[in-house]
Amino acid sequence: MKAIVRDVYGPPEVLEIRELPEPKGDLAPDEVLIEVHATSVTTAEWRMRAAVFPPGFSLPGRLALGWSRPREPLTGRDFGGRVLAVGSAVTRLSPGDAVFGASPKGANVERLVLPESAAIVAAPAGLSHVEVAALPFGANTAMHFLADGAKVQPGERVLVLGASGGVGVYVVQLAKHLGAEVTGVASAANLDFVRELGADHVVDYAITDPLATGQIYDVIVDVAGISSFARAKPALAAAGRYVPIEGSLGDLWRGVWTRIWPGPRVISGVAMDTREALERVRALVEAGAIRPIVGRRFEMAEIVAAHRVVERRRGRRGAVIVELPAAESAKRASVVPLERVG
Ligand SMILES: NC(=O)c1ccc[n+]([C@@H]2O[C@H](COP(=O)([O-])OP(=O)(O)OC[C@H]3O[C@@H](n4cnc5c(N)ncnc54)[C@H](OP(=O)(O)O)[C@@H]3O)[C@@H](O)[C@H]2O)c1
Repeated sequence: MKAIVRDVYGPPEVLEIRELPEPKGDLAPDEVLIEVHATSVTTAEWRMRAAVFPPGFSLPGRLALGWSRPREPLTGRDFGGRVLAVGSAVTRLSPGDAVFGASPKGANVERLVLPESAAIVAAPAGLSHVEVAALPFGANTAMHFLADGAKVQPGERVLVLGASGGVGVYVVQLAKHLGAEVTGVASAANLDFVRELGADHVVDYAITDPLATGQIYDVIVDVAGISSFARAKPALAAAGRYVPIEGSLGDLWRGVWTRIWPGPRVISGVAMDTREALERVRALVEAGAIRPIVGRRFEMAEIVAAHRVVERRRGRRGAVIVELPAAESAKRASVVPLERVG
């Protein structure tokens, strides 16, 4: 089966399509075999391919991924697909189920085996594999930082720096769902798109410095990595929250420090893709609070082009998705029957 791998860190051209052995036919009792139809090329994928990390995270990033070269060649994390087979003790999922999830051991592969306890959840009805693959990274991050971290309240004024990208499209939608008055910042070409996502106001960053308009916000979310707490503070209300999603190690310390002292706080950290988190994402989709935003779609053979779009950090709208030829090759190989095994 085909997989997208990289043996070294570097530019998009280090990515290769390689044949990997099929997963073993006999699943352990708790295992689930998934046919991956679509995966998302996120900014995290760019960082892990190129070993480019926010300030202060190079050391922990390389320690986690591999110092001089990646320990795990398989790329990818978020996926949409369907269950092909389940082990004898699996109760939550059944063969044929449409699912989405996040695989810590890589997802850019036609067939994937994960334990039932992994971040795999049933896809909301009516959404395609491509649409659900667009959810985990952006929607979970938005939920983690807005609902759980900043605890956005109805009527609060929220500024989103980077409203049109992989995470920003969900930050805007979720902030509106939470009842906020939302100002979205993007390039001129994306302003109408950001309005369609629900933003009440939009700012073109090439013309206006959104932190220097005199407007005061309750929450400033930075997904573009273009601000700092010092620059944002004058534009924050006394009980305001600064949310540097593209945060540095220094922002983690400021998060601790500002909890102790009165005044605006820094909300930083890392959103974890757990099963529970993705179940909450699904509930938000089912409630109509957010919808998946798919910007560009590529075929597996176009993976280098997909990474180039993502690493540019400008000019895309929502998720960049790569579709895998899994369904066709599964038919040809007929690896595992659609039934419970083990
Ligand atoms: N802490 C965590 O747990 C966590 C989780 C997820 C992501 N992240 C990080 O968050 C970051 C955001 O990811 P993403 O996928 O949303 O990025 P992205 O898709 O590259 O989006 C970048 C956004 O920034 C806008 N932008 C570019 N220059 C700008 C400027 N000068 N002023 C204001 N906006 C500007 C772009 O608008 P135009 O395209 O219109 O130019 C676009 O909306 C990444 O660094 C990622 O690593 C952290």
